[in-house]
Amino acid sequence: MPRLAALLLAGLGLLLLVTGAMARERACIPFHLKTEDGKVINPLTGENADQPYSPRQTCGACHNYDEITKGFHFQQGWDVISDDFGQKLNKPWVLSDGMLGKF
Ligand code: HEC
Repeated sequence: MPRLAALLLAGLGLLLLVTGAMARERACIPFHLKTEDGKVINPLTGENADQPYSPRQTCGACHNYDEITKGFHFQQGWDVISDDFGQKLNKPWVLSDGMLGKF
Protein backbone atom coordinates (compact mmCIF):
# COMPACT_ATOMS: atom_id res chain seq x y z
CA MET A 1 0.00 0.00 0.00
CA PRO A 2 2.74 2.56 0.83
CA ARG A 3 4.27 1.73 -2.54
CA LEU A 4 0.98 2.59 -4.31
CA ALA A 5 0.73 5.87 -2.37
CA ALA A 6 4.31 6.76 -3.33
CA LEU A 7 3.55 5.93 -6.96
CA LEU A 8 0.41 8.12 -6.88
CA LEU A 9 2.35 10.98 -5.28
CA ALA A 10 5.11 10.70 -7.88
CA GLY A 11 2.49 10.69 -10.64
CA LEU A 12 0.80 13.75 -9.17
CA GLY A 13 4.16 15.50 -8.86
CA LEU A 14 4.99 14.74 -12.49
CA LEU A 15 1.56 16.01 -13.61
CA LEU A 16 2.05 19.27 -11.68
CA LEU A 17 5.53 19.70 -13.19
CA VAL A 18 4.28 19.16 -16.73
CA THR A 19 1.20 21.40 -16.41
CA GLY A 20 3.33 24.03 -14.63
CA ALA A 21 5.82 24.03 -17.50
CA MET A 22 2.98 24.26 -20.04
CA ALA A 23 1.44 27.20 -18.15
CA ARG A 24 4.77 29.05 -18.15
CA GLU A 25 5.17 28.60 -21.91
CA ARG A 26 1.99 30.53 -22.63
CA ALA A 27 3.41 33.93 -21.76
CA CYS A 28 5.14 36.74 -23.63
CA ILE A 29 8.91 36.75 -23.51
CA PRO A 30 10.38 39.98 -22.05
CA PHE A 31 10.15 42.99 -24.37
CA HIS A 32 10.36 46.79 -24.34
CA LEU A 33 7.33 48.98 -24.84
CA LYS A 34 7.67 51.00 -28.06
CA THR A 35 6.38 54.37 -29.25
CA GLU A 36 4.28 54.78 -32.40
CA ASP A 37 7.48 55.40 -34.39
CA GLY A 38 9.16 52.29 -32.95
CA LYS A 39 11.44 53.89 -30.34
CA VAL A 40 12.08 51.99 -27.10
CA ILE A 41 10.33 53.29 -23.95
CA ASN A 42 12.42 52.70 -20.85
CA PRO A 43 11.00 54.18 -17.63
CA LEU A 44 14.15 53.08 -15.73
CA THR A 45 16.45 55.30 -17.78
CA GLY A 46 13.78 57.87 -18.70
CA GLU A 47 14.23 57.13 -22.43
CA ASN A 48 10.98 58.25 -24.12
CA ALA A 49 9.27 57.75 -20.75
CA ASP A 50 6.87 60.64 -21.45
CA GLN A 51 5.64 59.06 -24.71
CA PRO A 52 2.50 56.92 -25.08
CA TYR A 53 3.13 53.27 -25.95
CA SER A 54 1.91 51.83 -29.23
CA PRO A 55 0.29 48.35 -29.09
CA ARG A 56 0.85 48.08 -32.87
CA GLN A 57 4.62 48.64 -32.52
CA THR A 58 4.99 46.82 -29.17
CA CYS A 59 2.75 43.74 -29.39
CA GLY A 60 2.71 43.66 -33.19
CA ALA A 61 6.43 42.81 -33.21
CA CYS A 62 5.45 39.22 -32.29
CA HIS A 63 1.65 39.01 -32.57
CA ASN A 64 -0.51 39.48 -35.67
CA TYR A 65 -1.86 42.95 -34.85
CA ASP A 66 -4.34 43.11 -37.76
CA GLU A 67 -5.80 39.70 -36.86
CA ILE A 68 -6.10 40.46 -33.12
CA THR A 69 -7.79 43.82 -33.68
CA LYS A 70 -10.55 42.05 -35.66
CA GLY A 71 -11.41 39.86 -32.63
CA PHE A 72 -14.60 40.15 -30.59
CA HIS A 73 -12.74 40.95 -27.37
CA PHE A 74 -10.94 43.81 -29.12
CA GLN A 75 -13.93 45.20 -31.03
CA GLN A 76 -16.56 44.75 -28.30
CA GLY A 77 -19.28 45.48 -30.85
CA TRP A 78 -17.62 48.51 -32.49
CA ASP A 79 -17.48 46.62 -35.82
CA VAL A 80 -21.27 45.99 -35.84
CA ILE A 81 -22.66 48.93 -33.87
CA SER A 82 -25.72 50.54 -35.48
CA ASP A 83 -28.92 52.32 -34.43
CA ASP A 84 -31.10 49.47 -35.69
CA PHE A 85 -29.00 46.54 -34.33
CA GLY A 86 -31.56 45.81 -31.58
CA GLN A 87 -34.63 45.88 -33.85
CA LYS A 88 -34.39 42.18 -34.73
CA LEU A 89 -33.92 41.32 -31.02
CA ASN A 90 -36.96 43.41 -30.12
CA LYS A 91 -34.61 45.42 -27.88
CA PRO A 92 -34.17 48.74 -29.69
CA TRP A 93 -31.89 50.05 -26.94
CA VAL A 94 -29.22 47.45 -27.78
CA LEU A 95 -26.83 48.82 -30.42
CA SER A 96 -24.26 45.96 -30.66
CA ASP A 97 -23.41 42.44 -29.51
CA GLY A 98 -20.47 43.69 -27.41
CA MET A 99 -20.01 46.01 -24.43
CA LEU A 100 -20.44 49.10 -26.62
CA GLY A 101 -23.96 50.32 -27.17
CA LYS A 102 -25.63 48.81 -24.12
CA PHE A 103 -27.14 50.75 -21.22
C1 HEC B 1 8.93 39.49 -28.06
C2 HEC B 1 7.72 38.86 -28.54
C3 HEC B 1 6.39 39.25 -27.91
C4 HEC B 1 5.89 40.51 -27.74
C5 HEC B 1 6.53 41.84 -28.09
C6 HEC B 1 4.58 40.34 -27.14
N1 HEC B 1 4.31 39.01 -26.99
FE1 HEC B 1 2.57 38.23 -26.27
N2 HEC B 1 3.35 36.38 -26.42
C7 HEC B 1 4.57 36.06 -26.99
C8 HEC B 1 4.74 34.64 -26.93
C9 HEC B 1 5.95 33.85 -27.46
C10 HEC B 1 3.58 34.11 -26.32
C11 HEC B 1 3.25 32.65 -26.04
C12 HEC B 1 2.41 32.14 -27.19
C13 HEC B 1 1.90 30.73 -26.92
O1 HEC B 1 2.23 30.14 -25.90
O2 HEC B 1 1.12 30.25 -27.75
C14 HEC B 1 2.72 35.23 -26.03
C15 HEC B 1 1.48 35.13 -25.43
C16 HEC B 1 0.59 36.18 -25.23
C17 HEC B 1 -0.74 36.06 -24.69
C18 HEC B 1 -1.38 34.77 -24.18
C19 HEC B 1 -1.96 34.02 -25.34
C20 HEC B 1 -2.61 32.73 -24.88
O3 HEC B 1 -2.89 31.91 -25.75
O4 HEC B 1 -2.82 32.52 -23.68
C21 HEC B 1 -1.29 37.30 -24.64
C22 HEC B 1 -2.68 37.70 -24.15
C23 HEC B 1 -0.30 38.21 -25.19
N3 HEC B 1 0.83 37.48 -25.55
C24 HEC B 1 -0.49 39.56 -25.32
C25 HEC B 1 0.51 40.44 -25.68
C26 HEC B 1 0.36 41.88 -25.63
C27 HEC B 1 -0.91 42.65 -25.19
C28 HEC B 1 1.56 42.41 -26.03
C29 HEC B 1 1.94 43.86 -26.10
C30 HEC B 1 1.78 44.68 -24.90
C31 HEC B 1 2.45 41.27 -26.34
N4 HEC B 1 1.78 40.12 -26.10
C32 HEC B 1 3.75 41.40 -26.80
C33 HEC B 1 5.49 36.95 -27.48
C34 HEC B 1 5.38 38.32 -27.44
